[in-house]
Amino acid sequence: MVRETFGSERGEIAPLLLFTGGKGGVGKSTLVANLGVHLAREGMRVLVVDLDLALANLDVMLAVHPAHTIGEALVGDCDLADCLVPGPSGVELLPAGSGEHALGRLDARQRARLVEELTELSRDYDVVLADSAAGIGPDVLAFAAAADHVFVVTTPQPSALTDAYGLIKAIDGWARDAGREVPTPELVLNQVSGLEEAERLAHRLSGACQRFLCRSPRLAGWLPTSLGVEQAEHARRPFAEGAPKSLAMNCLRRLGARVRRLVPAQPAAIRP
Ligand SMILES: Nc1ncnc2c1ncn2[C@@H]1O[C@H](COP(=O)(O)OP(=O)(O)OP(=O)(O)O)[C@@H](O)[C@H]1O
Ligand SMILES: [Mg+2]
Repeated sequence: MVRETFGSERGEIAPLLLFTGGKGGVGKSTLVANLGVHLAREGMRVLVVDLDLALANLDVMLAVHPAHTIGEALVGDCDLADCLVPGPSGVELLPAGSGEHALGRLDARQRARLVEELTELSRDYDVVLADSAAGIGPDVLAFAAAADHVFVVTTPQPSALTDAYGLIKAIDGWARDAGREVPTPELVLNQVSGLEEAERLAHRLSGACQRFLCRSPRLAGWLPTSLGVEQAEHARRPFAEGAPKSLAMNCLRRLGARVRRLVPAQPAAIRP
């Protein structure tokens, strides 16, 4: 029997995958919460991190009640590990708070410490999925630069597509200014009518990136507009825990498969 093991079981650091998007409300948190639950149900050790530090809501979506938040760890009131809270299906959450305006913009030292401590925690997981704030603020760009892979989420709305391009351009510019190599983000099209629309819009966005930035972001996955997704959020129950045959769930599985390919894995134990 070949047993698949993931990176951190071999003492490696789990990859940090950041879900971001220029425009607010495009579904970043919905994707992170549900992808986290889905991958945990598939047996991965998943940490989801709320890096929307000033307006966090993954705790609400996952219906957990954190005792401590990343903000408290940043001011030294607790360790980052003290903030960990178990969520549904075995996923673990590193929660942030809401309405703490000072956390809307960290200084470079705080940011570096957070990334460093998060890297330490990552050793205990197979994958780390981080939710980001909208926009192109310094935190978003710095977290994107620190991540192993960035997923830019957009809806078909022209303003969301424009902001997605703006974000990819900003990440590219940030990397050039800092003299750093940052991988080209991948695209997630949310609230589309189907694969055809997702591919068409991704092709258009990727074409603009190719022309002006010499980068070709690929389509990592898509999610349909779904009443089930909306209702699940109202019920504070991840849709990844129900309706296994729904189109949204099939799409989430495909995105999950893409994410799994980004996690180092090897056949570790070969038994007769
Ligand atoms: N595929 C979908 N079908 C139906 N509703 C969706 C879908 N994806 C997200 N939504 C709804 O859109 C709203 C915004 O989603 P979400 O909070 O995940 O976006 P966000 O990008 O994290 O927003 P913010 O920028 O404010 O953090 C939520 O009410 C959510 O239920
Ligand atoms: Mg959000």
